[in-house]
Amino acid sequence: MFKLTELKDKQPHLQEHQWPPLPRFKSTPEDIREFLSLPRSLQKSSLAEVRDTPAYDEFINTKLAYISGYLFSYCDGPLHQAVDEDLEYEIQRMKLSVESEVLDHWLSSANREYPFKDSAECADYLQHLTFDNPGINHPLFDFLRNDANEVTFKYFLRNEVCRNEVVDDEVAVMTTGIQGAMKAAVCSNLWDEVGQGNLGKFHTYWLRELVEDYSDWHSLIRYRAEERPWFTMITTNVFNILLTRPGLKFRRYGWFLLNEGWVSPHFTKVLYGMDRVGLCRKGQQIYFKAHESIDPRHTVELIESIRYQRPTLSDKQMSEIACGAHMSLEASLKQYDAMLNYLVAINDGKIVHKN
Ligand SMILES: [Fe+2]
Ligand SMILES: [Fe+2]
Repeated sequence: MFKLTELKDKQPHLQEHQWPPLPRFKSTPEDIREFLSLPRSLQKSSLAEVRDTPAYDEFINTKLAYISGYLFSYCDGPLHQAVDEDLEYEIQRMKLSVESEVLDHWLSSANREYPFKDSAECADYLQHLTFDNPGINHPLFDFLRNDANEVTFKYFLRNEVCRNEVVDDEVAVMTTGIQGAMKAAVCSNLWDEVGQGNLGKFHTYWLRELVEDYSDWHSLIRYRAEERPWFTMITTNVFNILLTRPGLKFRRYGWFLLNEGWVSPHFTKVLYGMDRVGLCRKGQQIYFKAHESIDPRHTVELIESIRYQRPTLSDKQMSEIACGAHMSLEASLKQYDAMLNYLVAINDGKIVHKN
């Protein structure tokens, strides 16, 4: 039940902050403006040209990040509370070109058929994949557990805020186009995300507490505007492809399922590292502590809903769910590898940020 009695005079005090904490959109970067203006055939050939170069990942992801800002229309987006037929036509055109590149080339090893004889076999496969994959024990989380210093943690935690600040929006989009047990599993997740109707228990409210604890409301926004590296947005960028392409709606479910399975093992290591460097206050840890117990339940709900979905899932639907899980694995490993290099460089004093 939504706690209406809170609204008049009992709203938690951090509710006053604008969320998510974002810099205002200034202008479309020159390289994106150029790409937007190209005809479709030239967009595709310029993507093909960078494909085997070191610039490839960044070339794709800066465009996807711009598109993500457009899609959710917070103040960092190019069309915050505005419509513009010409610009939106161009953005959508760029979106399709870049997304085809991601599906057909950048993440192509995940993009194949996954045959299952029935939904029980599909659910079992996803259960095994969730608990045994190279993302669970990625060295990024051992580094956080054992070696990251307090300054390094600050940048990791900031990026966790950015990565998770609109999970409720993402899960809300996931509810469309599916029915029955799978819809219930996603809505159960969404209801928890919004604190079961209690503003102070929104999962993003716990992120507000983390930002507040660091007094980071302004410098976080400056960091995002001036220093945040492009690779910290890989998973957000790719998930948004699945969320906004109607034909990929079963992939988003598989993507999200795998992510939910990672949360508890990753956060246990994060919390160990936070204790080690003395980041022990409630506001610092509550987001991570709560998810250690919530997300294993969400993972089971998402998997079991595949097993018992009625009508039973088609071969194509099961294959798409598994494909989404593998896309998540492929994209997340790219992000974790880059994050580890970045955080090690901060730890060693080789990268020093202003904010
Ligand atoms: Fe959550
Ligand atoms: Fe969850």
